[in-house]
Amino acid sequence: MSDYHIKNLEEYFQVYRRSVQDPESFWASIAEEHFVWQKKWDNVLSWDFTKPEIKWFEGAQLNITENCIDRHLATRGDKTAILFEPNDPNKEARHISYRELHDNVCRFANVLRSQGISKGDRVCIYLPMIPELAFSVLACARIGAIHSVVFAGFSATALATRINDSDCKMVITCDGSFRGNKIIDLKAIVDEALKNCPCVETVLVAKHINSNTPLKEGRDKWLHPLLNTAPKECIPETMAAEDPLFILYTSGSTGTPKGMVHTTAGYMVYTAYTFKNVFQYEEDEVYWCTADIGWITGHSYIIYGPLANGATTVMFEGVPSYPDWGRFWQIVEKHRVNQFYTAPTAIRALAKENLSFVERHDLSSLKVLGTVGEPINEEAWHWYNDNIGKKKSPVVDTWWQTETGGILISPIPFATPTIPTFATLPLPGIQPCLMDENSMEMDGLQVDGRLCIKFPWPSMARTIWGNHQRYKDTYFSAFENKYFTGDGALRDTTGYYRITGRVDDVIIVSGHNLGTAPIEDAVNEHPAVAESAIVGFPHDVKGNALYGYVILKETGEDRDHDNVRKEINQIITEHIGPIAKLDKIQFTSGLPKTRSGKIMRRILRKIACKDTSNLGDTSTLLNPEVVEDIMKNVV
Ligand code: WTA
Repeated sequence: MSDYHIKNLEEYFQVYRRSVQDPESFWASIAEEHFVWQKKWDNVLSWDFTKPEIKWFEGAQLNITENCIDRHLATRGDKTAILFEPNDPNKEARHISYRELHDNVCRFANVLRSQGISKGDRVCIYLPMIPELAFSVLACARIGAIHSVVFAGFSATALATRINDSDCKMVITCDGSFRGNKIIDLKAIVDEALKNCPCVETVLVAKHINSNTPLKEGRDKWLHPLLNTAPKECIPETMAAEDPLFILYTSGSTGTPKGMVHTTAGYMVYTAYTFKNVFQYEEDEVYWCTADIGWITGHSYIIYGPLANGATTVMFEGVPSYPDWGRFWQIVEKHRVNQFYTAPTAIRALAKENLSFVERHDLSSLKVLGTVGEPINEEAWHWYNDNIGKKKSPVVDTWWQTETGGILISPIPFATPTIPTFATLPLPGIQPCLMDENSMEMDGLQVDGRLCIKFPWPSMARTIWGNHQRYKDTYFSAFENKYFTGDGALRDTTGYYRITGRVDDVIIVSGHNLGTAPIEDAVNEHPAVAESAIVGFPHDVKGNALYGYVILKETGEDRDHDNVRKEINQIITEHIGPIAKLDKIQFTSGLPKTRSGKIMRRILRKIACKDTSNLGDTSTLLNPEVVEDIMKNVV
């Protein structure tokens, strides 16, 4: 029996048992049989969560693009690797074969080299969902440059912070992007960001919307003329197993975004393995993940995982509502999509629309439906299962994080029986546990606590770029010798896990992780604002929305509150991006604080959720009287 492809529940339990009894030989045999190595490893795993230091496949040499592209050329050269579906439904889809992918990536890699990029340099990629995004990611990997993709919905300020944090030498962008019927001037955002980024020497600009964006002399270059003249062979750089492959930023509850560093071999092995099993991908199937490559889901399950398996992966430039709410289903029908992977927020938005948008399309090709990014509510789960999967395509509720690199807890379709809202069982190699308030591991079933992982897996992030101490403090200090996820979970009587949500100050809005602190910092930039506190409250499409409590400075003059609200959201848009805008803003004279001066967010959260039946003991607060006042004026 192959450990690589699990087909039923019995196999799952057997494979799982082997994977935890002897993780090293388990992962070594998968790595050996399913990947190409320039040199094999000397040691499968060494780890110490107290430092923390984790190394997989030490001594091995490889290049991930040989695994994702070159090795498929002999047997799958003409197979579609990337199926690009443009924003405009009237434009032709582009089928990029593995051979074409190889040519494009090699040319791009040669351009990077000719522009002075070499192994270990950081390259920031700020692009919409167009083929150049996939090519540039893989071109970096080809030459060992560390890519840092920044989601193209982030503002100039957010982009600049990320560029500077990892000292990127180059930015790859384009003249603009299409989103539904909107056109976004991406290059202008880059120009704005780069006013504050002295580390950037070169900007490569892909032409996409055919605008006449000005190029800055000596810094900016059109990409395509360089690509057209570059040679289409490029010898891949030899990478050590633990060489960084990429940095991807994620919000923390405090401070600047964290540049999570993923390394080469373990990330490759784990994303490929989980892609195969969680989506049960078979040759000639068409797989589509609707995420943006600016997030980890796109890295692991649009690019690396699918391509390492020689799959056909769809890349969609547009949005689910354009030209109408039937777009996703029109694409599923058109390309006969077999696996469809999206987020609960998208499912909820789609479920609000008329069912005729679904019914007019033939969805019979669908085999597996996936969801990721936040807990999926029961109603959305059923809508997805009934109307999209017609109760015959299993819904895989996949739980994981930017930090984990790949899916950790998920059903295996056709093997694990699913239950709505449960991510079910850990994948092979994953050893979750729940911790109670006294930092004790909770044995047994029917318990809930803080979700930790107690043994390393190959694709875990190895550090935070430039700040190993923060990596240790954030993930390895709450519970001794365990990786702490920041999520709460419960384990039911059958051992299934249900993720209950964040237990820290990260709020997930439409599937995007947002730390409260950076948003508060932005709000406090408003000249009239003295202090602010942001909490989440339930929203029927976004999952959570943001509620801001704002204290204005006392100046004696009357202010137009609606105007201040608008200005606050404008500042947030400039600092972070429109995704972090506040849905509700309440002006208040004070915030409930502990005697040590800490804001009691628990109370603010309850008030914002209009759940004030049990606020707990407020008498120990420094200023208990403000609670009453805040409750009276809740919006
Ligand atoms: C949440 C996304 C419940 C969780 C891959 C996690 C989920 C955070 C699920 C990571 C799920 C992700 N059920 N919650 N299936 N998937 N989450 O880094 O709180 O963008 O910690 O990675 O999303 O978000 P990130």
